[in-house]
Amino acid sequence: MIILGIETSCDECAAAVVDGGGTILSNVVSSQIELHAPYGGVVPEVASRSHMETIHPVIAEALRTAHIAANDLDAIAVTHRPGLIGSLLVGLCAAKGLALALGKPLVPVNHVDAHVYACVAGIDEPLYPLSALVVSGGHTSLFRVDSPLELEPVGRTLDDAAGEAFDKVAAILGLGYPGGPAIEKAARGAGNERFALPRPLPTGGGGLDFSFSGLKTAVLYRTRGMTSKKRRTVEPAFDGDDPESVAAMAASFQEAAADVLTTRLFQAAQKFGARAVAAGGGVAANSLLRQQIEEKAAALSLPVYLPPRALATDNAAMIAGLAGHIYASGRRFDLSVDAFAG
Ligand code: KG4
Ligand code: ZN
Repeated sequence: MIILGIETSCDECAAAVVDGGGTILSNVVSSQIELHAPYGGVVPEVASRSHMETIHPVIAEALRTAHIAANDLDAIAVTHRPGLIGSLLVGLCAAKGLALALGKPLVPVNHVDAHVYACVAGIDEPLYPLSALVVSGGHTSLFRVDSPLELEPVGRTLDDAAGEAFDKVAAILGLGYPGGPAIEKAARGAGNERFALPRPLPTGGGGLDFSFSGLKTAVLYRTRGMTSKKRRTVEPAFDGDDPESVAAMAASFQEAAADVLTTRLFQAAQKFGARAVAAGGGVAANSLLRQQIEEKAAALSLPVYLPPRALATDNAAMIAGLAGHIYASGRRFDLSVDAFAG
């Protein structure tokens, strides 16, 4: 099967061609970073209007670089949830138009499930059950995964997503947008000086939820000099004009965020006896998080599946790849498929 995938759930306009074995024949991602950077975050209306302009050239480029004619496609896959509704509709309408014109099946795909699939996409025989973390700008969730199509949510963030926290902390520190890569870069230059930031691990629910708003607020208060007397005696004062101080805060935040994500991933693994662990989504591109997960997995002799960075962030290859499993399972859809923000 040759499947075209289309992904427009947020600010990346992406199309990819994947064959039945999961081999990626093309993977085109057109980023809108420059459009949204002046606003410090994704502006939904700007995103959907930009998708309208780029979706057809991006699809054409994906077909061209894969050396596949539209008629040779066996199915059209598209992200239909969750995401920004206007952005999702652009991709969904393009996919429906192609499916109708070419007489090919349409396969709607859940974006978060696809982030999990991206972790195991290149693995010969992934081990299940798998403890999988999806950490992106809009989502922070933990799943027990029994196959690419069997995901059971076991934990989620109660407030900010991890990527959102990276983006907001970067904004507080004046590091620019998108925040994840900016924090990672700034932290690389950090010396030994560290700020003692909290590692929130909410105890309610199943004990596997996350909370990032307190950590973000802790950074905000530190940057404003609002620390407890006790802390002030043991911590350096934050100086926003001093690049070393900014780097130290970026590194301290990155460590705290990576710590809680890694802790929860392995707590979940232990809870249901996972045979492997995985992490996908934009934040899973973070080197410190990858290193922490790899170290802990090695200590426990658990296999770890981390997608290459280009497949951790938003892309359409993961959409086409997961669609192959959905189609092979026998599920069929008509053109009444709708888009959903949640
Ligand atoms: O999965 P993704 O590309 O889009 C969504 O589905 O949201 O994730 C984007 C998020 C952004 O918040 C971005 O700051 C974060 O992933 N991110 C990173 C890194 N690269 C991207 N966070 C930490 N370290 C990185 N290297
Ligand atoms: Zn995503």
